[in-house]
Amino acid sequence: VIDIRSLYGETGFFTYDPGFTSTGSCESKITYIDGDAGVLMHRGYPIDQLAEHSDYLEVCYLLLQGELPSAAQKKKFEGDIRNHTMVHEQIASFYRGFRRDAHPMAVMCGVVGALSAFYHDSLDIADPHQRMVASDRLIAKMPTIAAWAYKYSRGEPFIYPRNNLSYAENFLHMMFATPCEEYKVNPVLARAMERILILHADHEQNASTSTVRLAGSSGANPFACIAAGIASLWGPAHGGANEAVLQMLTQIGHKERIPEFIDRAKDKNDPFRLMGFGHRVYKNYDPRAKVMERTCHEVLDELGVRDEPLLDLAMELERIALEDPYFVDKKLYPNVDFYSGIIFRAMGIPVSMFTVLFAVARTVGWVAQWNEMVGDPSQKIGRPRQLYTGSTLRDYVPLHARG
Ligand code: ACO
Repeated sequence: VIDIRSLYGETGFFTYDPGFTSTGSCESKITYIDGDAGVLMHRGYPIDQLAEHSDYLEVCYLLLQGELPSAAQKKKFEGDIRNHTMVHEQIASFYRGFRRDAHPMAVMCGVVGALSAFYHDSLDIADPHQRMVASDRLIAKMPTIAAWAYKYSRGEPFIYPRNNLSYAENFLHMMFATPCEEYKVNPVLARAMERILILHADHEQNASTSTVRLAGSSGANPFACIAAGIASLWGPAHGGANEAVLQMLTQIGHKERIPEFIDRAKDKNDPFRLMGFGHRVYKNYDPRAKVMERTCHEVLDELGVRDEPLLDLAMELERIALEDPYFVDKKLYPNVDFYSGIIFRAMGIPVSMFTVLFAVARTVGWVAQWNEMVGDPSQKIGRPRQLYTGSTLRDYVPLHARG
């Protein structure tokens, strides 16, 4: 707690909490995490039950509306989402402004931010109905925008959404079909994708969600807020971690080299960290990582991959790390990103699309949290304080008089 009288001549105190490790920024009814026990629940439902029995759009409804839908509500919601899967045709031209080798996350930031130039009715955030339309639009259009970012990077024609497919199937279809060839969606892979989307749907006040809330607290439009969330998610300490895990495993290359990398991770003079390990909130096994590991085995079995060196390496790395006093004492366990990259790779999803997929899945969390905040009458603009450590008062020195 900082006494600000000496600093600013103001009266009172504020807390100085870099990284907000112990500062609550909002009230929320959406997601509960008990990091010590390794528990994650959405609206009271444990994540493993949702991943096992639910589907992604049902979880979207739950996050947005607070309850699981009845059959009629589910059907209507699926219809609403289906209504919005297309993007404005001019958005297709928008992609052409990007270099082909642009990272798809860079494209996502631009295209999602640009939606506010196309859907003007969704800018009326004071209207709860329009807020819900904006949320539906974002959830529905993200797979299309993401798959098109991939297609653009390959110089392939865009594939339009097929509304007779499920959310996950549709995404795989837009990624992998071509105008010359149908893509037959493997139901096991579609189910795995559905589960991955559920596991990433929301995670309370993480960096990207807090970014969305902070951007939205000024009254910014939902598309701008979600673009800000995407930008935050891109960082390797957040959504970029699954990409970084795969790069790390490739760099390690062989089981014999694991101890060398474990030593590097422990060395405070080396910036290297075990990617996919550790979490701000979980000081226990991330419950999503367990489901992810199971899903990883299911996908590899389905694809007949008997020998996946990176999976063997990941499992051995986990085993060694979890026996090492450094990781045990600091309660560093695998997080959700540790196994997801291996699944994506097996499915044929390129590394540059890993974080994009995370953004697709997390969109519902972002819009649910944004809606909750905007709908809260006690909501204020987010405006943290700072601890000023710069110069005290001094007089301007003209250019000719400076040394
Ligand atoms: N490898 C080695 N040491 C680690 C690791 C790691 N992966 N993670 C944390 N530590 C150490 C830190 O060096 C620190 O040690 P110290 O107390 O001796 O200084 C201690 O554990 C605590 O770490 P912090 O960085 O203070 O913890 P914080 O909560 O700020 O960071 C984070 C959490 C960013 C996730 C961190 O664990 C990390 O960088 N992990 C690797 C990246 C990663 O997997 N990110 C994905 C997160 S999940 C998600 O976004 C979906």
